[in-house]
Amino acid sequence: MPINNSPVVGQTVCVTGAAGFIASWLVKLLLERGYTVIGTVRNPDDQKNAHLRELEGAKERLTLCKADLLDYDSLKKAINECDGVFHTACPVTDDPEQVMGPAVIGTKNVINAAAEAKVRRVVFTSSIGAVHMDPNRSSDAVVDESCWSDLEFCKNTKNWYCYGKAVAEKAAWDIAKEKGVDLVVVNPVLVVGPLLQPTVNASIIHILKYLNGLVKTYANAAQAYVHVKDVALAHILVFETPSAYGRYICAERALHRCEVVEILAKFFPEYPTPTKCSDEKNPRKEHYKFSVKKLKDLGMEFIPVKQCLYETVKSLQKGGHLFLPTMP
Ligand SMILES: NC(=O)c1ccc[n+]([C@@H]2O[C@H](COP(=O)([O-])OP(=O)(O)OC[C@H]3O[C@@H](n4cnc5c(N)ncnc54)[C@H](OP(=O)(O)O)[C@@H]3O)[C@@H](O)[C@H]2O)c1
Repeated sequence: MPINNSPVVGQTVCVTGAAGFIASWLVKLLLERGYTVIGTVRNPDDQKNAHLRELEGAKERLTLCKADLLDYDSLKKAINECDGVFHTACPVTDDPEQVMGPAVIGTKNVINAAAEAKVRRVVFTSSIGAVHMDPNRSSDAVVDESCWSDLEFCKNTKNWYCYGKAVAEKAAWDIAKEKGVDLVVVNPVLVVGPLLQPTVNASIIHILKYLNGLVKTYANAAQAYVHVKDVALAHILVFETPSAYGRYICAERALHRCEVVEILAKFFPEYPTPTKCSDEKNPRKEHYKFSVKKLKDLGMEFIPVKQCLYETVKSLQKGGHLFLPTMP
C-alpha cells in the first residue's frame, strides 16, 4: 500500500461512530500506525464496543468517548485536543426520520467542532450516493468526483440515504469553506469485507441475504463494491497526503447481481444462493462507468472484488452470523 511505513508518533485523531463497520477498521489501522485515537460512541459501556478495546495498541492509545452527533458539546469535548478528525458516524438507512438529523446536523456539528479545535484536517466519509444519483447523466458518461446527485431526484425516488449524504456533504463543504477547515471527502461505493464489530451492518446484509435463504431471486441490478480495509486505508491516505484535496471516489469494480451470486456459489456451493433473476423480461442492467483515477494517483491499490466477497462470507461464518441450512 502507498501509506509510508514509518510509525506516526504523538498525533491524536478523533473517529466518530468508532464501533461501526468502517470506523472499526479505521481505528484498527490508525492504532497500528501509531496514532492515539479518540473514538466516539453513544454508550462507552455497551458490550458492542468491546472489540475496539481488544485491538492492538488500544490499551495504550484508544479512548472511547461518549458523544452523540446531535449533541454539539459532546463532540466538541471529543475533538478538542485532536490533530485530525475522521467523521464516519451516520445511520445507514433509507428512513428519512432516522437519517436526516444525524447526517446533516451531525456533520455540521462535527465540522464546526473541528473548526473550533483548529484541527489540521477533517476526513469525512460521504458516499457514492452523494455522487451518482442523476437521471440526466448520459449512459456513456464517466462518473467522477465532479458529479453530484440530483437532490430532487433523490427525494422523488425516496432515496433518503443518498439525499441525506448529499445534503450533509454539501453542508460540510460550505462550513469548511466559511471556517477555513481543511476538508477531504471519501465517497465509497458499497463496502464489504470482514467485520470487526459483533453485529451485521447494512452493507453486509446485502451479501448475507444471498446466502441464508432470505431471497429466492436476485434483482436485475448492478453495483460497485470495495473492501472495508481499502476504505479505511483510503481515509488514512488522504489524511496523510498533504496534497490530497476535494473528493475521492473509492471503488474496486462493479458487478451485476448475477455475477455476485455466481461468485458466491462458486466459493460456497453449500448455501442456497439464488440462480434466477427476478426480472426475466428486460435486458441485463449495466452499471454506470466510474473513475477512481484520483485515488489511484495517490498510490491506492484495491483488493479484488472476488476476494472481498470471499472474506465477507468467511467473516460471517466466523462471527456466527451464517449457518448451513438444515435439511427438512
Ligand atoms: N457500508 C457502506 O457500504 C457505506 C458506503 C458508503 C458510505 N458509507 C458511510 O460510511 C459511514 C459508516 O458506515 P458503516 O457501514 O460503517 O455503518 P455502521 O456500521 O452502521 O456504523 C454507523 C455508525 O454511526 C453511528 N451513529 C449513528 N447515528 C449516530 C448518532 N446520532 N450519534 C452518534 N453516532 C451515530 C453508529 O453508532 P451506534 O453504534 O451507536 O448506532 C455507528 O457506529 C457512514 O457515514 C456511511 O454513510 C458506508
